[in-house]
Amino acid sequence: MTHFLDIHTTPPEALRSMIDQGIAMKRARKSRPKGAPDDEQPLAGHMVALIFEKPSTRTRVSFDVGVRQMGGQTMVLSGSDMQLGHGETIADTARVLSRYVDLIMIRTFEEETLLEMAEYASVPVINGLTNRTHPCQIMADVMTFEERHGPIAGKKVVWSGDGNNVFASLAHASLQFGFDLTFTGPPPLDPERAWLDLAQERGRPITIERDPVKAVHGADLVVTDTWVSMHDPESAKERRHNQLRGYQVNEELMSHANPDALFMHCLPAHRNDEVTSAVMDGPQSVIFDEAENRLHAQKAVMRHCLGL
Ligand code: CP
Ligand code: NVA
Repeated sequence: MTHFLDIHTTPPEALRSMIDQGIAMKRARKSRPKGAPDDEQPLAGHMVALIFEKPSTRTRVSFDVGVRQMGGQTMVLSGSDMQLGHGETIADTARVLSRYVDLIMIRTFEEETLLEMAEYASVPVINGLTNRTHPCQIMADVMTFEERHGPIAGKKVVWSGDGNNVFASLAHASLQFGFDLTFTGPPPLDPERAWLDLAQERGRPITIERDPVKAVHGADLVVTDTWVSMHDPESAKERRHNQLRGYQVNEELMSHANPDALFMHCLPAHRNDEVTSAVMDGPQSVIFDEAENRLHAQKAVMRHCLGL
């Protein structure tokens, strides 16, 4: 069974071929009329369940469209409408869904839910975000970087802000794709110790630099994300804003990165909190390419999982 649960647990060669296939499939689509099905229909006859226990725009639409472009069909399920939200176990839900569908994508809160789904499903399971990680996003981000600037290996990537789930998957990617990663943010919002230790053990330690200006020096890519994630309590908002204000990505901060540095944000963004509109809409920003590439990268992820 080939699940796609995390970047650090997926072999680097498989990750590389997914990125390359995503880029190739995107190119092939660009030569076809918008809305046309792909030349190849590897998911014909396949049914994909997309389960959301949290809100989503990009993940929901990109998976749905991607499956249809490849000839498959989807059903989008909200956790709260399922018996899952009313006491049925994850293991039983996984066993039942496996009798109907060929692939499951789930966005959930606890990582344990994802892992239990994968353990008991007899079809592949894809991680569409948990409180801890967001691997599909980072596949799209690596693809976006490489489309513009070639191999990401050896480049300097800087994350400014909260050491959250998206950062965790970026950290995993730094190990598998071989780029240098610097984190800049306040100590209370540091990345999980487990990820810092993993990076250390794998010989590619994450640099922590509290001064954002020093951090972005020589950066090829600057990345940030919301200061308050979906799993963070609303009551933490004011405190987090106070802690993170100095880590806003603005034109002044970008001026200390390499002149051709790219700016990324997984979106949704809070304009003029974690990033200014000037940077989001400026020439270094590739935020809408990232959003588009969710579609292409995830098509490759689904093909990888299904061996198609
Ligand atoms: N970046 C991302 O996962 O967006 P959604 O929450 O809209 O799916
Ligand atoms: N860190 C954000 C990412 C949203 C795509 C969250 O978990 O809410």
